[in-house]
Amino acid sequence: MTIEIDDLRIRFGEHEVVKGISFAVAEGESFGIVGESGSGKSTVLRAMAGLNQSWEGRIAFSGEPVEAKRPPAFFRKVQMVFQDPYGSLHPRQTIDRILSELPLVHGLDGIEKRIARALSDVTLPQSVRFRYPHQLSGGQRQRVAIARALIAEPRVLLLDEPTSALDVSVQAEILNLLADLRVERGLTYVMVSHNLSVIAHLCGMVGVMIDGQMVEQVSVDNLRLGKVEHSHTKELRSLSVELEEPA
Ligand SMILES: Nc1ncnc2c1ncn2[C@@H]1O[C@H](COP(=O)(O)OP(=O)(O)OP(=O)(O)O)[C@@H](O)[C@H]1O
Ligand SMILES: [Mg+2]
Repeated sequence: MTIEIDDLRIRFGEHEVVKGISFAVAEGESFGIVGESGSGKSTVLRAMAGLNQSWEGRIAFSGEPVEAKRPPAFFRKVQMVFQDPYGSLHPRQTIDRILSELPLVHGLDGIEKRIARALSDVTLPQSVRFRYPHQLSGGQRQRVAIARALIAEPRVLLLDEPTSALDVSVQAEILNLLADLRVERGLTYVMVSHNLSVIAHLCGMVGVMIDGQMVEQVSVDNLRLGKVEHSHTKELRSLSVELEEPA
């Protein structure tokens, strides 16, 4: 699915926290958003995901603008993965129950098969089905969160800092998994991260946000080459050691 965001504005009371941002993502591409804490990254993703219904501007998937309130079918096609896999998984539900929820809501058949496939897609053993989130490691929990996002065969994943709560070694595994899934399924991603090297690993384009505005959009190739315009992008780049090395 293509994604188009035009002049998106979001306010909380008097405070405008997203100040007219625009970007587009081609089908099967991955767009990264970086920016300092509080710059509005999560707020943008939440509006795209239909979790925040008060915004202005245009959000379109496959060329079709969405309304504030989305029909149930929308939530099959567009799924969000959050930073904290512990907070986003219900603590008193087994993994089996957690993974059953979306297929039940959407009346999908073959739930057993879907769960088995979703677990193997994220390389988790079938035995985790009857465990609870607290009985899994952080990396395993994030794999469950990704399995849940994938289970109803979405076309778009909105990823909000999907690895920042994990150990560095586990981060790389999850990023590789997400990169493989995108190619295999032709998924379209928008991914928020503080970390430019994480973005560079997974995305083709990156948008840099400061205080509710997207001040620059640059390809990851140009980012690596240092062909960036805005001082904030230069600053972020200089903080990211890995980018200095050849790809
Ligand atoms: N529900 C809300 N009510 C009021 N203000 C909010 C709400 N959600 C976010 N904000 C404010 O909007 C601004 C942007 O927040 P947002 O969570 O989008 O930032 P972010 O870029 O994701 O930051 P971080 O990198 O820390 O996750 C902040 O000033 C925040 O305090
Ligand atoms: Mg955030």
